[in-house]
Amino acid sequence: MNILGISAFYHDSAAALVRDGEIIAAAQEERFTRKKHDSRFPSNAVDYCLQAGGITANKLDYVVFYEKPLIKFERLLETYIAYAPRGFRQFLMSMPLWLRHKLHLPKEMDKALNNGYKGRYVFTEHHESHAASAFFPSPFNEAAILTLDGVGEWATGSFGIGKGNKIELTHVLQFPHSLGLLYSAFTYFTGFRVNSGEYKMMGLAPYGEPKYYELILDKLIDLKQDGSFRLNMSYFPYCHKTVMTDSRFENLFGGSPRRPEWPLTQREMDMAASIQAVTEEIMLRTTKHVYQQTGMKNLVLAGGVALNCVGNGRILREGPFENIWIQPAAGDAGGALGAALFVWYQLLNNERKADGRDKQQASLLGPIYSGEQISQFLDSVNAKYHIYTDEEELFDKVAELISEEKVIGWFQGRMEFGPRALGSRSIIGDARSEKMQSIMNRKIKFRESFRPFAPCVLRENMQEYFDLPGGQESPYMLLVAYVHNDKRLPLDTPLEKLKGLDKLRGKRSSVPAITHVDYSARIQTVDAERHPKLHRLMSRFEEKTGCPVIINTSFNIRGEPIVCSPEHAYRCFMATNMDVLIMENLLLYKEQQPQAKQHEVDEYKAQFELD
Ligand SMILES: [Fe+2]
Repeated sequence: MNILGISAFYHDSAAALVRDGEIIAAAQEERFTRKKHDSRFPSNAVDYCLQAGGITANKLDYVVFYEKPLIKFERLLETYIAYAPRGFRQFLMSMPLWLRHKLHLPKEMDKALNNGYKGRYVFTEHHESHAASAFFPSPFNEAAILTLDGVGEWATGSFGIGKGNKIELTHVLQFPHSLGLLYSAFTYFTGFRVNSGEYKMMGLAPYGEPKYYELILDKLIDLKQDGSFRLNMSYFPYCHKTVMTDSRFENLFGGSPRRPEWPLTQREMDMAASIQAVTEEIMLRTTKHVYQQTGMKNLVLAGGVALNCVGNGRILREGPFENIWIQPAAGDAGGALGAALFVWYQLLNNERKADGRDKQQASLLGPIYSGEQISQFLDSVNAKYHIYTDEEELFDKVAELISEEKVIGWFQGRMEFGPRALGSRSIIGDARSEKMQSIMNRKIKFRESFRPFAPCVLRENMQEYFDLPGGQESPYMLLVAYVHNDKRLPLDTPLEKLKGLDKLRGKRSSVPAITHVDYSARIQTVDAERHPKLHRLMSRFEEKTGCPVIINTSFNIRGEPIVCSPEHAYRCFMATNMDVLIMENLLLYKEQQPQAKQHEVDEYKAQFELD
């Protein structure tokens, strides 16, 4: 039985195909259209899923959409009426999209499926989809479920229980009170893009002090002991305006918002630190409450807020749950997968067996390209490459190149589903290098200098380097842990004396390129089952250098979706200062390529809107 799940029209459109309960394919539309966070109907992702499953639309048994558009429309109307006559402009602005697409979804979906699908469309609730994406692929037979995001139809958060093949959400938090939207309001105010810059603000937080923590709790939010809260809506105009904050908010935080690309000041850093601390407090209180209410020892998480890996790390270290599993595509893209699994288990009542291993398949659910396809493309652009028939020789070579501080594009196997590159579409480098953080930010990714890089660590060696509680792994890069004391180095100037971006100065650990200014690192544990090739490469690097840690960042530049095809990878390689590109067993040196001209590089960069 083939079930196609779809999410669209908010942000991060995606499609997922589930066959007899097994995840066959899942991908985000942005990877194909090359428009980051593309929210249009995911026609390309649907085509890819059908192709990966070797079927056409007439072989689909169910097509399911990840939320209920009519209920969402009702929220829009009711919010408008509650605030009327304010908000008329915002209301008018949102109407065309609703009238053209959202209210006519079945028609839209018929078109995308070439009128091949003859069944009925199923619509699940937004938070049900998140919850299903968190629980059904998880390794647990039973678990508490917590979802937190901006907003779905009405819900902005929910919790309940998953048991066997059923989930039940018993509690919801409703719009406009939303942790996701609260975080986004600060994202907007600190000059980052809403729905994509949240990650940057989280990375900025360690440069600041949580000076405004009390002010936020005092003025903006009424936070209860159980983690539930009400926002003081007189500071948040998003119900009736197209902006997240206005003058009342500005008065609290000493003036107008930072404009995008303006220099960062201590105020933004302190605001980031403060809202991050408030968010963590809410996440911790909520998980404690969920634990008390459900009596479960396992917790599963999804929804955009579950991408806050600093918060997740604290839930793991300080929270009451023994085990945690987080859906790697925790944002709305993952709703497509959740919706499809919901139909298979919840609606069709199929058996589910949990055996202690997750069913996410390392989240490698996207397109794959053979060596032949890759060489065909490379020939078509006259690229020069070397073919390694002996894999060990290749790994040996790449390990050597990493240790020589070369920056390497690493393109292997199926593309990742979810926002993180996990070693299939990654740029990798030497974590021991002092200059690598700055090189990668400035010359490879063309992005802000404050942004940290994440490490891959061999699972076997994780506890030597990071303080993750015993046995816990982080295969999906969704947990932040701290670099171990004995890997830290004394700084010339004590950390507490350094302010703001000065904190970047100095080598603070034996793996400085991945150690954030507060010694934190968003780690990915690499194991031989999920990532056999990356594991072998890293083992080889460890044999050579004694270091089981490398940098892993996504294969893209600022504003660009992660590369999907060999063509995307080659173009990105040529437009940046990457030294080496490896695609399957083909290796390319930059200096041997027909040189890209500067104007082509600029053209490449200009394609992507700054995020
Ligand atoms: Fe969501």
